[in-house]
This record gives sequence, C-alpha cells and structure tokens, in this order.
Amino acid sequence: MALSDARGVPTSATNPESLEILETAIRQFQCYRGDAVETIDRALADDPDFVAGHIFRAEMHAMLWEKTVLPDVEAMLGRLKELAGQANERERAHIAAIADWAAGDWEGMAARLDRIVTDEPRDVVALQVGHLSDFFLGNRDNLRGRVARALPAYSRDDPGYGFLLGMAAFGLEECGDYGAAEDAGRQAIELEPDDCWAQHAVCHIMEMQARQEEGIAFMEGRRAHWAQDDNGFAFHNWWHVALFNLDNDRFDRVLEIYDGALRPERSEIQLEMLDAAALLWRLRLRGIDTGGRYEELAATYETLGEHCFYAFNDMHAMMAYVATGRNQAADALERAAAETAEGSGTNARMTREVGLPILRGVRAFGAERYGEAVDLLMPVRYRAQAFGGSHAQRDIVHRTLIEAAMRDGQHGLAQALANERIALKPDCPFSRSLADRAKGMPN
Ligand SMILES: [Fe+2]
Repeated sequence: MALSDARGVPTSATNPESLEILETAIRQFQCYRGDAVETIDRALADDPDFVAGHIFRAEMHAMLWEKTVLPDVEAMLGRLKELAGQANERERAHIAAIADWAAGDWEGMAARLDRIVTDEPRDVVALQVGHLSDFFLGNRDNLRGRVARALPAYSRDDPGYGFLLGMAAFGLEECGDYGAAEDAGRQAIELEPDDCWAQHAVCHIMEMQARQEEGIAFMEGRRAHWAQDDNGFAFHNWWHVALFNLDNDRFDRVLEIYDGALRPERSEIQLEMLDAAALLWRLRLRGIDTGGRYEELAATYETLGEHCFYAFNDMHAMMAYVATGRNQAADALERAAAETAEGSGTNARMTREVGLPILRGVRAFGAERYGEAVDLLMPVRYRAQAFGGSHAQRDIVHRTLIEAAMRDGQHGLAQALANERIALKPDCPFSRSLADRAKGMPN
C-alpha cells in the first residue's frame, strides 16, 4: 500500500524505512548539513524503485546549478522515467520539473515546482527546491511569494516550521521588506537554532542596512550554529562575514577568512568558486594585493572550462581571467557567451539580457578602458537580477561601475552613484569613502 510522508503528503512508496531515511535526508537539506545524497543512497540501495528517493537525489544534484552535474541528473532522469508508471501524479510532476532543468528550461522547472506546491503545499522538498530555483533565476518576488502561498498550510507545531520562516525571511529581505524579514528570520532561529539559511537571511538584512559591526557580532557569536565542519553552506555565510569586514577596511581579516574558510580546500564547486572570485574582485577594486590567490582560482576556472551553463558563474570566471591577464581564456569565454546568447533556453536569455554586456564590461574594466566599462555596465546594472544571485552578490556590478566612473574621471557620474549608495546605506563607511573620493575629483 502506498504510504504518506511525515507531513501527510501521499507518495508511491511502500517501504516505511525508505520514507524514514528520506526524512533524515530532508532534515540535512533543510540544515545544509552532512551529505543528504549519501543518506538517500542508503535508502535506494535497499529499495531501488523508491521514486521519491530518486527525485530527491536528482534535485539535490540540480541545486548545484552547474554543468558538471548534468550527466548525473540525466542518468537519474532516465531511471525516473522507467519508474514513472508507478509514481503518483505529484511525483510525475517532479520528474517533469527535473526534465525541464536538464533541458535548460529553468523557468519551466520553477513553474512546475510552484504548481506542485500550490496543489500540495506540504511538499517541503518542492518548496525548498523551488525557493532555491527562484534564487538562481533572480526571481525575488517569487522568493517571497512561493513561501507565502504555502505557509498557511503549516502550523508552528509542525516539525521544521522554522525552516519555512527562514525561507520567508530571505524572500522578504530580497524584496526590501527588512522589518518583516528580520522578524521572520529571528523567529526561525529561535525555532531551529541551526537554520543557517535563516541566519543568512538576517545577515543579508544587516548587509543591506550597512549594520557591519552588528553583523560581525551576530555571525561570529553564533558560529556554533552555522559554521559546523559538516555545514555545506558555511562558505557562503563566511563570505558575508568577509563583506562586513571589507566595508570596515579590515582587509587582513578578509584575507584570513578567504584562506581559512572560503577557499582552504580549493573546491571546484562553482557556487564556492564564485564567492571566492567575487571577494577577490572587491578587494582588487579597493586596491588590495591578494597575492597568488586569484592565480590559483583562475587556473581552476580554466581547467574546469565550465562556461556558458549559467551566466552568473561566467561573470565570476571572467573576473578571475581579467585579474590574472588570461586573455585567451577571456576571449574564449566572451566568444562562447556571444554564441550562447543566440540560442534558446533560460541561460541564453540571461546571457543575452545581462550576462554578455557584463562580461564585456568586466573585460573593458580589466583593460583599463573605463569609459567603455561605464557604457556597458550602466544600462544593465538594474536589470542584473535577471541572471540570478542576491542583491548583495550583484552589488559587485555597481561597485565595478562606480570604480570605472572614478577611474575614467567622470566626476558627475561618480558623485551621482556615490550619492545613490549613501541614500541606500547612509551608515556604510565604504559608501562614505566613495562619496569623499568622488567629491575630491577634479570637475
Ligand atoms: Fe548571501
């Protein structure tokens, strides 16, 4: 007889032990701790036809959002298609969503997951995978909306309710509703102290409101809850701690975090590499010597050749190439991106709309053609959400633009952009220093 999961969601599973192991894996996914794939593999070893297990496994791979996992996802999809006859309707919708992802129709995937949650709001895997898809797609309205639509189907007494509030907090933050976001994020942490996604959401609020000192204290003081050795998201939360320190001019601490927490094992995972590339670029914009760190990172990007799968990754690879004078790699990436922009699928649209002009802007900046960098970045800076990431991550485009305006001697523009930053972050020491620099420029 087909069983329902712990939240009462009907599945096609008939083995209660498989569902129990899936619950352990879901909890790991919610906390970003341990190896959820290894866990679900235990269930699949004993129950090779466990549809929900295969779905979970495929979606965990897809959430790395990089080309290297594509063959694995396709293989898992093949197995799921064989099992589709025994799957229930909701599970078949998951299979279709995975197929969309593998075919490069990421918006299709996100929409299908949305539909699943509309019909079955207590499918927490669909909800969280959908939430992450919204992040990769830069769909901030749905980061808030998707969770808001599902929340009434749960009560505070439901196990894992805190994780829903953590997702709600991040969506609210990306939509600029900082008060409601902080309220949700702090409640989430109270319910689930190890909710590193909620920790991250509150950290984002502090970043957006330039509460650097408070942010450092909040993150450092709660390290036991988000920086555990087995926490797969710790690198990104460390990246945020580095940003707080960067804007307070504590460059030694930034480099210490880079070496100790962001890139100690020289990961080849794109999500980790992009944070590393972004931090080094920010340091470079501030004129800080980062030693051989960019060389190592750029060499890894070049060896992996993970180009033109996701435009947001490409921008960070280009920064590494430009910073290390890798002209051939930069040429190859730009050519491939131009070709990609002519194609179809979600990444082609992202590349066309924002990825390619930003790649060219970064190259122009690196070649000290600052006026050209301004011309390329200025029109796309407020459309950059189309290639995903968070406001905090995309701030790199704004920072590069204002630095280009300064270096090109565009006094009026530099001052205007500095004014804009001050308006958004009046207490940010870095924004104030930009305003001072702009003011000191010759007219
Ligand atoms: Fe973040």
